[in-house]
Order: sequence, then structure tokens, then C-alpha cells
Amino acid sequence: MKILVTGGAGFMGSNFIKYIFNKYPDYQVVNLDKLTYAGNLENLKEIKENPNYKFVKGDIARNKDLNKALDKGVDVIINYAAETHVDRSILNPRAFVETDVLGIYELLEAVKQGKAQKMIQISTDEVFGEIDEGEFFENSPFEPNSPYSASKAGGDLLCRAYNVTYNTPVIITHSCNFYGPYQYPEKLIPLFITNLMENKKVPLYNQGKNIREWIYTEDHCRAIDQILHQGRIGEVYNIGSGERLKNIEIANLILEALGKTRDMIEHVKDRPGHDSRYAVNSDKLRKNLDWEPRVKFQEGIKKTVQWYKDNPEWWQKLKNNEYWQYYKKQYQTNDENSPKDSPI
Ligand code: NAD
Ligand code: DAU
Repeated sequence: MKILVTGGAGFMGSNFIKYIFNKYPDYQVVNLDKLTYAGNLENLKEIKENPNYKFVKGDIARNKDLNKALDKGVDVIINYAAETHVDRSILNPRAFVETDVLGIYELLEAVKQGKAQKMIQISTDEVFGEIDEGEFFENSPFEPNSPYSASKAGGDLLCRAYNVTYNTPVIITHSCNFYGPYQYPEKLIPLFITNLMENKKVPLYNQGKNIREWIYTEDHCRAIDQILHQGRIGEVYNIGSGERLKNIEIANLILEALGKTRDMIEHVKDRPGHDSRYAVNSDKLRKNLDWEPRVKFQEGIKKTVQWYKDNPEWWQKLKNNEYWQYYKKQYQTNDENSPKDSPI
């Protein structure tokens, strides 16, 4: 099988490419990535010489770049490429519309023209908005609350429309929050782990009351594997672990794992439009495609803390580079829209 993975130099895309070569060594993978601040080829150093792997630097929203990656055609496109961080979308929404909406349009056009036999759109539970009780189902209405989730919703709606109107073969997934090795240190879990390792405080919004559902990298890769081989065209699948935690509970687990005390938590200004709770019902994936998560949060968070302890050179470089410094400065200079006023 020949797969085009877009955004394969990011957190989950790189985990997925390594998962594929481990389980299916004969598969071919082309990785098309723009290498934004979140793209990092070091995530793929183990496989860069693999003859079945090819890297193309490029933008999914540019037809020319896509054609280069698709010159000989592929069986499937798995789209991980996106602008992904909610706080950045509050500061700079434009890049989100360009990649998460226009990029999807270009990918769909390529599939419609027969350059790939199908496409899997990796999307998020955030498109459904927040839910204080109960769960989101695959057919729950879209009520996105951030420029990030609105852009992802736009891309997902295009996927649906192309499938209905042109019969373009697409499958959409809505996943809960990912965590694990190689996650860029702007997101809650790696930010808190690395700040504490640097002996810096951790900035918690809204007293840590908001709730997220968490899935470990490998479990998400296994879900996409099932969908790739057994998923039905035109279907939507929620991906969830059922493990829903308040952010304060996560902060406490990380403090405990690193032997730090609670005074390292800094309560900061809340994120505007901060969704209170996400929870997805993933029965369809579990029953129809015989998938279930294997890594419990208590175990996954320990493995994740250990990975960041073992790989300081990976994240220190990211927190010292120009992209990180620019992001930090935006917080400090953009008071009105800044999700938090504490230095990251
Ligand atoms: P990430 O931010 O770590 O990586 C994104 C990758 O996409 C980077 O390598 C970046 O260089 C690349 N990219 C960005 N714009 C591009 C463009 N225009 N063309 C080509 N490449 C581009 O992302 P992640 O956290 O691994 O998320 C992967 C996907 O999963 C995203 O679509 C995201 O919306 C979705 N998702 C993420 C989570 C989560 O918790 N992180 C949960 C559910 C769904
Ligand atoms: O639900 C899936 C989504 O999960 C993905 O689609 C997004 O790409 C991904 O970024 C993630 O979005 P969240 O906003 O849930 O993730 P983040 O790590 O930014 O924040 C998790 C929670 O922690 C959220 O309630 C906000 C809070 N938080 C976050 C940061 C960065 C803090 O309290 N302090 C922080 O510094």
C-alpha cells in the first residue's frame, strides 16, 4: 500500500509513520509537510533512510506542492496536516483558515481527480463545541467555539460535501485530545512537564476546572490503522478513550510524577471561549471496527513524563528557538486577546 501522510513531521503524524513502518514494513509512505514551527524532521530520524519513505517539503494548500507529492498517485491520503493550537488560533486565525480549510479543499480536489483512491481526514472533537454532560456522537451538530475548531469544522464539512456531491471517497475521524512522546511543548501536558523540569511554574486556566478526554499516541495510531483497513467510505468515526479528566487532576499527576509541590501552579487569565468539557462516544469504532484503547491514562502519563525526562535535547531546542520566542512575545504584547498573561 502507498500512503501519502500529510503533516507527517508533526506530533501524531510522525508517530503514525513510525507505527506503519513497524507494523507494515512493505508499505510505502510519502510525507508532505510544510515544516511550520510544529514540524520537526528529528521526529523521524529513525526512518529517514528507509527506501520505502520519501519526504516532500510543501504546503497542502498549494496545488503545485500536492502534485509533487502525488506524482505517481497513492492508495490513500491520511491528512494530519493542520494548524492545531487553540491559543495560537486566538492570536493569529488566518493560518488556520488557510491550512485547515483551503488545504482540505486542495486535498479533496486531488482525490476527486483520482490521484488517491481515498482520504482519511484526521479531525477533532472540538468541532462539536463543549458539552457539560453526556457525550458527542458522530452526528452531533457542529458548534465550534475557537478559530481553530471553526476551521477544522469547515474542512470537515467540505469532506462531507465532496462525498455527497461528487462521491469523493473520504472518511472523517473526530478524536479526543492526544498525548505522548514528541508532542510540541505548547500543549498542556508537554508544557507542564517541561516547565517543571526547568523549575518554572505551570500556567493553569480557570482553576483547572475544564475537562478533556485523553488518548495515548499508540492507541490513536491503532484506531487509524483499523479505519485505514476496515473503515467504510463516507463514514465518520469518533475516537475516544472514555478517560475524562479535569486539568487540575492532570497538573497534580504531573507534579507528583516530577516530585514537585502545588505552589508550582500559577492560576492565570482564562483562555477566551475556553470550552468547558469534551467527551466523545466511540462505540461505533469499538463495535464496528473492533478497536479499543489499551493504555490507561495513569500509565500513559508516566510513560510520557519519562520520555520528556529522557529526551531533554529534543524539547529544549524547541523552547529556545525563534518560533517559541516569537510566540511568547505575542502573549506579552497582545494583552486584549492573549489567552493568558503569564509567560509560557
Ligand atoms: P502538530 O501541530 O503537532 O503537527 C502538525 C503538522 O502539520 C506539522 O508537522 C506542520 O509542519 C504540518 N503542517 C501545518 N500546516 C501545513 C500545511 N499547510 N501543509 C503541510 N503541512 C502542514 O499536530 P498534531 O497535534 O499531531 O495533530 C495532527 C492532526 O490531528 C491535526 O489535524 C489536528 O487537528 C488533529 N487532532 C489533534 C489532536 C491533539 O490533541 N493534538 C486531537 C484531535 C485531532
Ligand atoms: O480535543 C482535541 C484537541 O485537543 C485538538 O483538536 C487540538 O489540536 C489540541 O490542541 C487540543 O486542544 P486543547 O485546547 O484541548 O489542548 P491544550 O493542550 O491547548 O489544552 C488542554 C486544556 O488545558 C484546555 O482546557 C486548556 C488548558 N490549558 C492549556 C494550556 C496550553 C491550561 O490550563 N494552560 C495552558 O497553558
